[in-house]
Amino acid sequence: MTATVVLGLAWGDEGKGRVCDVLAHDVDFVSRYSGGNNAGHTVRVGDEEFKLHLVPSGVVREDVICTIGNGVVVNPQVLKQEVEALEKRGFDARARLKVDGRAHLIMPYHIALDSHREIGLGEQKIGTTNRGIGPTYEDKVARSGVRVQDILDEGILRRKLKAALREKNAVFENVYGETPYDVEELVAWLESYREFIEPMISDTGAMLRDGLEEQKKVLLEGGQATLLDNDHGTYPFVTSSNPTIGGAIVGSGISLKHVDQIVGVTKAYTTRVGDGPMPTELHDEVGGKIRETGREFGTTTGRPRRVGWLDLPAIKFAADMNGITYVALTLLDVLTCVEKVNVCVGYEIDGERFDGYPMHQTDLHHARPVYKELPGWEEDITGCRMRGDLPEAARDFVEFVETEVGAPLCMISVGSEREQAIVEKIGA
Ligand code: GDP
Ligand code: IMO
Ligand code: MG
Repeated sequence: MTATVVLGLAWGDEGKGRVCDVLAHDVDFVSRYSGGNNAGHTVRVGDEEFKLHLVPSGVVREDVICTIGNGVVVNPQVLKQEVEALEKRGFDARARLKVDGRAHLIMPYHIALDSHREIGLGEQKIGTTNRGIGPTYEDKVARSGVRVQDILDEGILRRKLKAALREKNAVFENVYGETPYDVEELVAWLESYREFIEPMISDTGAMLRDGLEEQKKVLLEGGQATLLDNDHGTYPFVTSSNPTIGGAIVGSGISLKHVDQIVGVTKAYTTRVGDGPMPTELHDEVGGKIRETGREFGTTTGRPRRVGWLDLPAIKFAADMNGITYVALTLLDVLTCVEKVNVCVGYEIDGERFDGYPMHQTDLHHARPVYKELPGWEEDITGCRMRGDLPEAARDFVEFVETEVGAPLCMISVGSEREQAIVEKIGA
């Protein structure tokens, strides 16, 4: 029984897709368990680049079965577009993809609400991806959501949409001055995806559990990351799901007993898209250089990512909280562009040294990073395939991170292409 969870330790875009692609070389299933098409996971194989939003990255490995778990929120239009685009590129995506019937559907009114809420928040906005993620999870918890399985029964669909729209239409009309949504139009919209999605609807949790009992290997691919977690992240500047280890269990339908590896992914520095505190953010030339070299522009929205030094207290918190067994360190090659490398090893909050990760949001907003400066390196490291190939300064940096985080590295990524990695232990 081996399930490996791959999850982000920071604010997303750590390279989870890229790490999963490497780890997926000998697995049977790759599964998404949380989030939706707010995610953007990039995988590069040779000259080909794949930007995946809903379909797990395992799709680019032949024979891997991909599942979209009950914890994911699914926009049927986006799913269809993504599957068709993959098919055009020669992947039998439809045949190898299963979608859990319990997963919730992102409806057009969720997207509209997401955007109205953000406009309403003004300067306090979260900077969401505007994909309707928050409002869909709200409806799930409020028990007024529409699920993938509902597509199979027009009567149930109509009843649920009527109930869901009773309050929402009043808000659209009276608060936002918009035309109310028409139940029949929405039923017809969903019906138009029935033929496409019906063959994929499954009990994916049961599939994974059965597979695990038969000694099959499962990789759970996290979307978003720990500091965007609704409970453990920098609330309210978070997403509306639990990308952390608990969410992996709830959102996939497998048991804790099945999980034997938890791989936490972090960049060699930090990025964040959207608003909220980020103590190590750089507003200078160095930050700009890292952004350009690392091509730090959102995979989903194209927004420039905020860039900063590696924030060890945050990463250590995430590593502890998720109980990671391995670290995958990514984008190490990008740091070749800087002369000296800083790593945040603690904070100063209102004049006092603080070594942990603050629970209180105000403290996090006031936190000033305390840096340890490490020597940089100038050599091109994209061809390194063993730790010993790295220049001494890069090796020292890697070892410093490994010791501080307290979990062994299973992979050091030195480029975005599949082969550009130092793979020390395969977590799957
Ligand atoms: P995810 O959302 O966690 O899967 O990460 P994204 O795909 O959104 O962002 C990571 C970006 O870094 C992508 O553009 C990857 O192609 C790229 N990438 C991943 N690993 C490396 C690496 O080691 N070096 C470089 N230069 N780019 C990398
Ligand atoms: P991957 O899987 C980076 C951020 C948004 C915003 C906040 C809430 O590619 O790492 P939402 O649309 O989820 O309600 O937005 O979360 N966010 C991400 N940032 N990578 C992601 O996914 C993200 N998914 C959401 O920018 O700050
Ligand atoms: Mg991403």
